[in-house]
Amino acid sequence: MKTVYLVGIGVIMSMCTAAQTISIIPEPLSIQTRAGTFQLKPGDNIEVSSLDTGILNVANYFESKIAIATGFNLPVMQGLKSSKNGRIHFLLDVEKKFGAEGYEIVINADKIVATASQAAGLFYAAQSLLQLFPKQIESKTPVTGVRWEVPAVTIIDSPRFAWRGLMLDVTRHFFTLNEVKQFIDEMVRFKYNLLHLHLTDDQGWRLQIDSLPRLTEFGAWRPKREGKWGNTPPPDSTEPRNYGGFYTHDDIRDLVKYAADRYVNILPEIDVPGHSMAAVACYPELSCTPGNYHVNIGDKFMDWHGGGKFTALVDNTLCPTNENVYVFLDKVFTEVASLFPFKYIHMGGDEAAKNFWEQSDSIKALMASDTLANMEAVQSYFVKRVQQIIHSKGKTLMGWDEILEGGLPADASVMSWRGTKGGIAAAKAGHKVVMTPNDYVYVDLMQGDPIIEPKVYATVRLNQTYKFDPLPAGVDATMVLGGQGNLWTEQIPNMRAAQYMLWPRGLAIAESVWSPKEKKNWNTFIQKIENEFQRMDIRQVKYARSMYEPIFSVLKDGENIKVKLETEIQDIVIYYSFDETNPDEFYPRYIGVLSVPKDAATLKIITYRNGKPVGRQINMPVDELKKRVKK
Ligand code: ACM
Repeated sequence: MKTVYLVGIGVIMSMCTAAQTISIIPEPLSIQTRAGTFQLKPGDNIEVSSLDTGILNVANYFESKIAIATGFNLPVMQGLKSSKNGRIHFLLDVEKKFGAEGYEIVINADKIVATASQAAGLFYAAQSLLQLFPKQIESKTPVTGVRWEVPAVTIIDSPRFAWRGLMLDVTRHFFTLNEVKQFIDEMVRFKYNLLHLHLTDDQGWRLQIDSLPRLTEFGAWRPKREGKWGNTPPPDSTEPRNYGGFYTHDDIRDLVKYAADRYVNILPEIDVPGHSMAAVACYPELSCTPGNYHVNIGDKFMDWHGGGKFTALVDNTLCPTNENVYVFLDKVFTEVASLFPFKYIHMGGDEAAKNFWEQSDSIKALMASDTLANMEAVQSYFVKRVQQIIHSKGKTLMGWDEILEGGLPADASVMSWRGTKGGIAAAKAGHKVVMTPNDYVYVDLMQGDPIIEPKVYATVRLNQTYKFDPLPAGVDATMVLGGQGNLWTEQIPNMRAAQYMLWPRGLAIAESVWSPKEKKNWNTFIQKIENEFQRMDIRQVKYARSMYEPIFSVLKDGENIKVKLETEIQDIVIYYSFDETNPDEFYPRYIGVLSVPKDAATLKIITYRNGKPVGRQINMPVDELKKRVKK
């Protein structure tokens, strides 16, 4: 009986597969569908047009992705396009102009032919192809009873931008080498090609520097704290400093190769002169205020005044007038440059507090001798010195948009994070730019209502992220390398939490940096991410369901509190209660602005779609609603 039931499920699944619409993230340049399907069978093979290492790399990668769930062992062999035997073909065709990363896939009942001018293009063809297989292809164990069919289509595709990045902050919380590899595995599914590793900050130094061993012997470790970030108790001298970690040179070589095999460059960031408490804790003489420092553990050391203004309570900056700082940085960048083959090195440059510099006699002397008008000019002096060091290692400097302040060295590139303003100014001044505006692509920010999300200082919902366009109007497209999502990890202590913050917003960014602007469509995108959610469930990747939950706006009408609920996506039905019980689909349905009863303590809501609960229940205290009244 049980067997019959399982076979029955298999048939239903395969029928669903055949009827499935094409769902590829990011949306390709063009898709032509035809009737029919290709069905993968045991005994099929993969043929490559040459034994070029790049092409073999892709064919073997594809084979390994297919093998687990299907249990098929597809041999990879050399053959010709016209070969009768081959069922899946990977061809390099330099005559065809697909560009560095473009590709074509032609799927018919008898065979699949993927063609590209370079191996990277074939790799992206493989990613699109994997997304066309039934979702069970994501299984980590063999699955039976599935017809491994893909629809007959022709796809022609190539990216809008060459820089399609994600930044992972491995300092606030450390992520192991294997976790970073898993992060890369997820990125490449959606055709990201750049991993920006934020390797140093106030909370830890994560890269072994042989000539400065204290940086990782001491600077990579701190006592563990849980609970709310930013106000934790400082360490006491008896506590073990055993929370943290770092990457050895061997780890980095391994990671760089792992990434390169998946067509991903790694951009290393050493964040100076600010955000340098871990370095200063190791070498206090590098600050303008030598003293006793500890690697920050989430305890308060800055006052944030809002509007981008702040004061450091403890000096976490390197001192621009201390020649030993440049000796130190020369050592660091010598090793960084030898470990990371990517053309760019990121020097950070963001949020450097100036209040300790203002009190420094040596800085006053520098300002007088070099006629530097203000602290921005002092920082610019520092950036130019760092640029010389990075340049001397054969690399190009990139920094956060603060490096524009006070003047930028000629060949420096800018990563625009405080909106797109800095990026636009830099591009207009002839600098290459990567757009990472915090109001669109900061995936560390909350994605749903603050009452239910882990607390961060601001919110960027999925529909806002999906509006991200790396190329602002009026900017020369050749100056914009591309765009990137940033995953800061102050409030993200583990990889499950990182996944939750990144997905699905990472899907929206992927589509913004790969797909033609006119191919983006919010409603289609939602259908595709719901399809992807099912795949993520199978491969056990966490994601947020915040898009199913409403946006609350509160108004006051005389003494009455009124609540408006809106949703990011269509066909959501909201049920609510004010009586402290948990609503379901038999409760009152939200059809328009609610008046909060005078004696109510909580508004509870739950969302449904197609008769099923889709979002989390939100219990909104009326006191919280009162705080949110729009003035
Ligand atoms: C930044 O978010 N401070 C670059």
